[in-house]
Amino acid sequence: MTIVKNTALYTNKHILAPMVRVGTLPMRLLALDYGADLVYSPEIVDKAIIGTQRTVDESTGTIHYTKGGKLVFQAHPSEKDRLVFQLGTADPELALQAAQLVKQDVAAIDLNCGCPKKFSIVSGMGAALLKDPEKLCKILCTLVENIGLPVSCKIRLLESTEKTVELCRMIEATGVSALTVHCRTQDERPRDPGHWDQFEPICQAVTSIPVIANGDFFKHEDAINIRNTTSISSVMFARGAMLNPSVFQPQGPTTQHEAAQAYIRKAMLVDNLFQNTKYTLMQMYEDTKSDVFQQLTRSKTIQQIWWV
Ligand code: FNR
Repeated sequence: MTIVKNTALYTNKHILAPMVRVGTLPMRLLALDYGADLVYSPEIVDKAIIGTQRTVDESTGTIHYTKGGKLVFQAHPSEKDRLVFQLGTADPELALQAAQLVKQDVAAIDLNCGCPKKFSIVSGMGAALLKDPEKLCKILCTLVENIGLPVSCKIRLLESTEKTVELCRMIEATGVSALTVHCRTQDERPRDPGHWDQFEPICQAVTSIPVIANGDFFKHEDAINIRNTTSISSVMFARGAMLNPSVFQPQGPTTQHEAAQAYIRKAMLVDNLFQNTKYTLMQMYEDTKSDVFQQLTRSKTIQQIWWV
């Protein structure tokens, strides 16, 4: 298999982060409409996608990967060139099998090396891979050498800059096309401030591939600033985009309410699962005491919320 290295895919980009449940098809399509250059799927575990059946809804073109009647992954041809599929895995062979299954519908594959949740750690996935760099690199090498798509990797910071830099150099040497750094350690929570000062030493050490900055970016201008003042190539938004996907607009965001309405329209268009639409909207509206949030909580169908 020819190795496909494509650093341009990740260079000078503003990116929608992988987000379980939130980053499903309607959110990705909306982020692209608002100006995101690249969108990541939510993390999908190797064993979850392996064994799925792929079907295409002929009327909308939407692609469904289902298993036992359950939707595991949904994609659309319009996002294919800008969609990165994020894998949760602790095994090179399963990783490859999973990636091969979705290959025709995505632009690239990403390995999740940052998830601190218990279910990931106990299975050796996510942030557990940070403590097992040999396995982490074996998974990346297997994907790079066999999948025929660009491969990237998303990590968190280690206990010291030196250790993080050493790991980043090892990852760079696997042949990946990009590296995303979430600038918090495994034990730090989202409320803890991101360590933006850690980006530059990493960029100085990793010079052959773009480094994507993630953590605490809530404004378009913050992304521009970090790119102007460091050697960071690209910026990835998670909660900033979840709260208002129009954060990608260079001219500034629309109101959260307008973005929520646009999200509902996309969800209806692709026939998104109602429970997923409701969950995502409830993440968007932080004020749990607001009328809108209360009505969302009570809703049971899309018809009951399309007005929000
Ligand atoms: C996440 N994050 C995450 N990371 C990842 O690599 N794969 C995933 O599937 C998820 N899922 C997820 C769901 C939700 C709802 C949130 C809020 C976050 C972490 C995310 O991609 C990002 O690294 C962090 O949220 C830090 O970025 P922000 O939020 O400070 O911009």
